[in-house]
Amino acid sequence: MTAIHTVADLRLRARRRLPRPVFDFIDGGGGEEYSVGRNEAAFAETKLVPRLFTECRKRDLSVNFLGTNYAAPIGVSPMGLGNLAWPGTDEALVRATAAAGMPYALSTAGSSTVERVAELGGDRAWFQLYLPQEFELSKKLMQRADDAGVRTLVFTVDASQPGRRLRDRRSGFGRPLWEYPHAVLSYALHPGWSLSTLAAGTPTMANLSSGGGDFEGANAALQFMGSIMNAKLDWDSLEQVRALWPYKLIVKGVLSPEDARRIVAAGADAVMVSNHGGRQLGSVVSSLDVLPAIRAAVGPSYPLVLDSGVRSGEDVAKAIVMGANFVLLGRPWLYATAALGPEAGAAKVIEILRGELDNAMSQLGCATIPELTNDLLWRG
Ligand SMILES: Cc1cc2nc3c(=O)[nH]c(=O)nc-3n(C[C@H](O)[C@H](O)[C@H](O)COP(=O)(O)O)c2cc1C
Repeated sequence: MTAIHTVADLRLRARRRLPRPVFDFIDGGGGEEYSVGRNEAAFAETKLVPRLFTECRKRDLSVNFLGTNYAAPIGVSPMGLGNLAWPGTDEALVRATAAAGMPYALSTAGSSTVERVAELGGDRAWFQLYLPQEFELSKKLMQRADDAGVRTLVFTVDASQPGRRLRDRRSGFGRPLWEYPHAVLSYALHPGWSLSTLAAGTPTMANLSSGGGDFEGANAALQFMGSIMNAKLDWDSLEQVRALWPYKLIVKGVLSPEDARRIVAAGADAVMVSNHGGRQLGSVVSSLDVLPAIRAAVGPSYPLVLDSGVRSGEDVAKAIVMGANFVLLGRPWLYATAALGPEAGAAKVIEILRGELDNAMSQLGCATIPELTNDLLWRG
């Protein structure tokens, strides 16, 4: 078996270890998936210019973001049903990132409860809010996050409809198995995943089927997704969330400089430039491509987070050079736990990303994260 050195290696190993419908759910995107390719291409096309004779023999990757110290500007994007990658994924990622001084954002649709994630993650645990149709339920979720001690809320605003996921339609993901014989075969051919998932129980949306009690039973996930699809997501709802959440608020899914300006004016603490990993609109612009325009719109010191397409520590450095203060990754964490198992996978991806960021900083002549400024960018 080939050794694992990069996120791309983890992805290949995950593809071998997962039944095809599960791998496609994690790996796939919206529509024709132009944006999935474009997200990664934007990083590949960004060119950096190292500076010479700087003192950077020792690098310090730490940052303070929204008042909390982190060991590196790297974290986990919110992902629903994370335990699908491998049973125990959510908890392994929270434990490993908290120990490494990085944030973990639990999705509303995550497979662990906000109480458990806050207990394991402390002040590194963030909670992501999808707005369900019933505003009362949003209030209840925010109250639970608050009671659990979460102080950073990520409000996702780019998913009022699920993306048009063609791979999921073709594989029959989430549909009754007997309708898709090729899927049954794929589960049978991947007994490692299938037996451990059978033993652990199919992942549920734990925050919605426990404590809240609003969406119970086997089709809780479908009921909830239906509720999100009908939610009224407008500027008033941002004001409502802002008024109800007294702590740090990050608005996720922003691609237009004009929207970013309005979100800043509405009192959000940070804007998250994200195209949902290309999982919503197939032809959407990449986060990295719009980042400089959003930085210009919000001013030099306003906190910006970026995700979508980040596949290495060098990509993290590029995102910061282009104007981000903090960088999250989605799929790479799930590739890792699927490829190596939850604990070993979480540890491996942290080691890879930190090592690559450290190496990139050394090559660029930067000793600290604030030195990753945009004059390191080749504009030829
Ligand atoms: C399996 C999966 C589930 C996701 N679920 C959510 C979710 O529940 N809430 C959310 O805001 N974003 C969700 N996302 C999007 C991620 O938060 C993130 O924006 C995206 O994965 C970043 O792109 P990357 O995977 O290329 O790093 C999900 C992504 C994946 C891969």
